[in-house]
Amino acid sequence: MKILLFGRDGQLGTDLTKTLVSENLSDNVELSAYGIKDLDLTHFDRLHDVIKHERPDLIINAAAYTAVDKAESDAELAAMVNSAAPEVMAKAATEINAGMIHYSTDYVFNGTARHPYTEESLTSPESVYGLTKLNGEKVVLDHCENSLILRTSWVYSMHGQNFLSTMLRLAAERDELTIVDDQVGAPTSTTALSDATLKLVQYFMLNGEFSAAVRGVYHMTCAGEASWYDFAKAIIAASEFSDTRVVPITTAEYPTAAKRPAYSVLSNNKLFNTFGIRLPAWENALAQCMQENK
Ligand SMILES: NC(=O)c1ccc[n+]([C@@H]2O[C@H](COP(=O)([O-])OP(=O)(O)OC[C@H]3O[C@@H](n4cnc5c(N)ncnc54)[C@H](OP(=O)(O)O)[C@@H]3O)[C@@H](O)[C@H]2O)c1
Repeated sequence: MKILLFGRDGQLGTDLTKTLVSENLSDNVELSAYGIKDLDLTHFDRLHDVIKHERPDLIINAAAYTAVDKAESDAELAAMVNSAAPEVMAKAATEINAGMIHYSTDYVFNGTARHPYTEESLTSPESVYGLTKLNGEKVVLDHCENSLILRTSWVYSMHGQNFLSTMLRLAAERDELTIVDDQVGAPTSTTALSDATLKLVQYFMLNGEFSAAVRGVYHMTCAGEASWYDFAKAIIAASEFSDTRVVPITTAEYPTAAKRPAYSVLSNNKLFNTFGIRLPAWENALAQCMQENK
């Protein structure tokens, strides 16, 4: 089977590349992975040509415009990367009879719920990033039936720009960190996401497609919930900077360009009920991530 991966050099793409070339898959899977240096996804003709030339069985799109605040003033580029490029991919996938896995975000919700959002919950993004990602979901589902949309949240790893790396950098510089305590979500490691994605790839290999019974939107996050403050406390406690004080503040005390949902925990029941896949508790995934990188 041939897989074409976009977003190779991002947080998730880096781990997916590692996972997909792992020993237990390498005999059966040929992976072609593209980063922005090889292909700018906003060059739509070239993107289409690459897909037609590579002729993969499965496209995995881990590329995205993820600068949530910057997107507020850069809506055109965010839409090109998060909505228009996935549309080109989905159309090309259908032309060559390939399947597609595409990632999306908890920021498609407005955050007014107080219990986990399901795949049927009403979407209502309040940021440009969330809106462009929601449009990306729609065009993929519209143009490639043989597809899965995986909504995840609060993604971190030991590589790239993310909350974990920011906390470790700030803790090395300061005695005290003030962190927002009134936004609640589920921190999700790229390791947990890659392991879960691998199982979906194995399903695809076995079945040759995402059959009509399984295709569609799934939530894929680590289990449990935390505020950014809870997440920061756990990071600092497990780090070499455990003396650093972590102080809770409100969203109002930390204004940002983009509005973020106050609550964006996603129910993962559909993923478990359909594929038997369950991601670890966020605390365990964080401990594993920090342990592996000591
Ligand atoms: N990060 C989060 O907290 C989070 C939360 C929920 C959902 N997600 C979703 O999860 C998926 C993976 O996210 P991630 O955290 O791994 O993101 P990431 O680290 O920002 O990686 C995204 C990759 O896409 C690349 N990219 C951006 N514009 C491109 C273009 N025009 N052409 C080609 N490549 C381009 C980026 O390159 P550059 O770095 O050079 O721009 C980067 O390598 C995305 O679908 C994202 O929306 C992420």
